Amino acid sequence: MQQSLPRGFGTRNLPALLAAGGECARLGPSGQGAEMSETFGELELREWSDAAVARAYARDFAQASQMCVPGLVAATGAETRRATDVLDLCCGHGNVSEGLVAAGASVTSADFSPAMLDLARARVPQATFVQADAMDLPFDAGRFDAVTIGFGLPHVPDPPKVMAECARVPKPGGRIAYTVWHGAEKTSALATVFKAIAEHGDPDIALPPGPGATDYAQPDIAFPALGAAGFTECQLTTIPSAWTADDPAAPFRFFIEGTARGGYLLRNQPPDAARAIKAEVEAWTHATCGNGPPWTIPIPAALISATRV
Ligand SMILES: C[S@@+](CC[C@H](N)C(=O)[O-])C[C@H]1O[C@@H](n2cnc3c(N)ncnc32)[C@H](O)[C@@H]1O
Repeated sequence: MQQSLPRGFGTRNLPALLAAGGECARLGPSGQGAEMSETFGELELREWSDAAVARAYARDFAQASQMCVPGLVAATGAETRRATDVLDLCCGHGNVSEGLVAAGASVTSADFSPAMLDLARARVPQATFVQADAMDLPFDAGRFDAVTIGFGLPHVPDPPKVMAECARVPKPGGRIAYTVWHGAEKTSALATVFKAIAEHGDPDIALPPGPGATDYAQPDIAFPALGAAGFTECQLTTIPSAWTADDPAAPFRFFIEGTARGGYLLRNQPPDAARAIKAEVEAWTHATCGNGPPWTIPIPAALISATRV
């Protein structure tokens, strides 16, 4: 079902809509200090390196990303031994790495956040961990059989650069499989939260310019970018991922506590704006997610896979 969003909100226009003159918000994430010159990449690194954000993502938000792990693992070919040596990029707290290890793969897990790598090391001691920027990977060409990226692509300033790196490090015939949340083309908590921010949020609180949160869930953006990087046989599957929650405001809470760009936009709102955003999210849960508690709150994902030429 298509959700109606304010004019100009198309999810791929989200940063442009929310950014005010390309400058960052006037307040930092804890509501203190100006961060006017911070780039998108710096904001992402700072937010994901916050141990509280990393823990909240792993505890709450990742309930939905966990539902995408079997699809990601299957798309690499790890279960059929087509892929035995797999790179899990933007590994976060290690959920995808864990699935790959369970399928029998030898896994190298990379992320730029020390806080996330700490969580992943504790969860999947069998994997090898590397702190690295997804746009500049410290691996030789042709080293891996496959690469996975669970919900990492929208967080890097230059997704085509990541795709180029993901085409460089696998062998010819190797696979890429990544997930990105769907946008307003589906009924989704993500679109609801960002729509509520666009409608009720303080317009001065804005992100630095960066890729749209759901751009690479769109085949008209993703497939040409994968083709330009050197991939073929592009496929998109939708995964009906969802949260189960007793709190109708769960999407608001999950975004404010456990995400980088959503958390940044929400944490810095004046109290009245934050209350209005939260109230709209709660109303949406009541109207859309059945008779709770508990509510089943949809946040569907696009699983995109392709083969290295
Ligand atoms: C939304 S979490 C995804 C975690 C996990 N892969 C999953 O599927 O739930 C995004 C992860 O990407 C990482 N990340 C963001 N930008 C990155 C970059 N430029 N290089 C490496 N990791 C990055 C963050 O630190 C974070 O751990």
